[in-house]
Amino acid sequence: MTVCEYKPGLEGIPAAQSSISYVDGQKGVLEYRGIRIEELAGKSTFLETAYLLIWGKLPTKEELVDFEKEIASHRRIKYRIRDMMKCFPESGHPMDALQASAAALGLFYSRRDLHNPVYIRDAVVRLIATIPTMVAAFQLMRKGNDPVKPRDDLNYAANFLYMLNEKEPDPLAARIFDICLILHVEHTMNASTFSARVTASTLTDPYAVVASAVGTLGGPLHGGANEEVIQMLEEIDSVDNVAPYLEDRLQKKAKIMGFGHRVYKVKDPRATILQDLALQLFDKFGSDKYYAIAQEVERIMTEKVGNKGIYPNVDFYSGLVYRKMGIPTDLFTPVFAIARVAGWLAHWKEQLEENRIFRPTQVYNGLHGIAYTAIDQR
Ligand code: ACO
Repeated sequence: MTVCEYKPGLEGIPAAQSSISYVDGQKGVLEYRGIRIEELAGKSTFLETAYLLIWGKLPTKEELVDFEKEIASHRRIKYRIRDMMKCFPESGHPMDALQASAAALGLFYSRRDLHNPVYIRDAVVRLIATIPTMVAAFQLMRKGNDPVKPRDDLNYAANFLYMLNEKEPDPLAARIFDICLILHVEHTMNASTFSARVTASTLTDPYAVVASAVGTLGGPLHGGANEEVIQMLEEIDSVDNVAPYLEDRLQKKAKIMGFGHRVYKVKDPRATILQDLALQLFDKFGSDKYYAIAQEVERIMTEKVGNKGIYPNVDFYSGLVYRKMGIPTDLFTPVFAIARVAGWLAHWKEQLEENRIFRPTQVYNGLHGIAYTAIDQR
């Protein structure tokens, strides 16, 4: 066996062979199963893209209709899950509520029939169908309201916005939200997907796989950055404050949220699409003062650190889009999870197809042969 050099953060080390998605970080290319993200964002829907990622091919018309129907008929959550969520503290972060609820779902389906395609399909459908219901339910219940029942006649994106805002969304907002889900559904071996694959490799159930990935997505260096971008824009508050704010932060070697990426060394193609979606929303529903601030942040960051390959990532413009749809800031990362669950499930399925448990090594840099010191002598 070749002994590899230790790389912090496993940078550049392949953790799996995968045919699910591809990124060229120098050229700013992202493909799902070989199809460019721009094409899917323009022509596909979230559920069609999810099918493509999980089953490896675009569905036929009948396959898509069946999949959509199955998802629509599994959107309700069990009253025991709902009642459990009611007991969560309102001040708790919705990502923690989602992680606990996804794990709890596994209590009801603990049979692990991992080689049975019916079991796999059931789990895929149940998780994709119920995660949005859980996110919306927690949002309503933490305000003291009963959750809104999902509507089978609405598509996936429209139903989520309906459950969240208690009214049918504008069709443009629903379509844009669906595109956001496409943009967030999958992204090669990122931290949460790696976490999902490690958990999957132990042959545990898919609910544990998703719960562990949700926990990983929540951190500010990963999916949690979208919330922090809005907090940063609010703190900056005006275009004139951008330059001194960035000067100060960069001088202190602080990270600017929504910038930088382990793989992309150019602007993330998803950020470009999200910026365009934000403009479409502003055209129809009125502008947002934070957009001008964001543009100025991008301009100055490009001038100052663009030569280091630091550009806006997917999290930079997504918050502005979600704000315009009435989604509260601390739901941005759960919304990311609603999309990414399908990507995690594609990796779960792929991991099972050629599984070997993850068990890397470490470089021990501690001591040896130390004598035990009795407690009263320490
Ligand atoms: N702001 C300022 N400088 C940055 C930023 C940033 N956002 N990102 C990287 N850099 C600088 C670092 O200071 C470092 O500079 P140095 O070489 O002079 O010390 C260099 O770029 C390399 O940075 P690392 O942190 O080593 O890069 P890494 O690949 O480990 O981290 C990450 C990537 C975590 C995304 C990082 O860019 C970051 O923290 N960004 C802000 C958080 C964020 O937006 N996360 C969302 C990422 S997308 C997603 O997960 C969905």
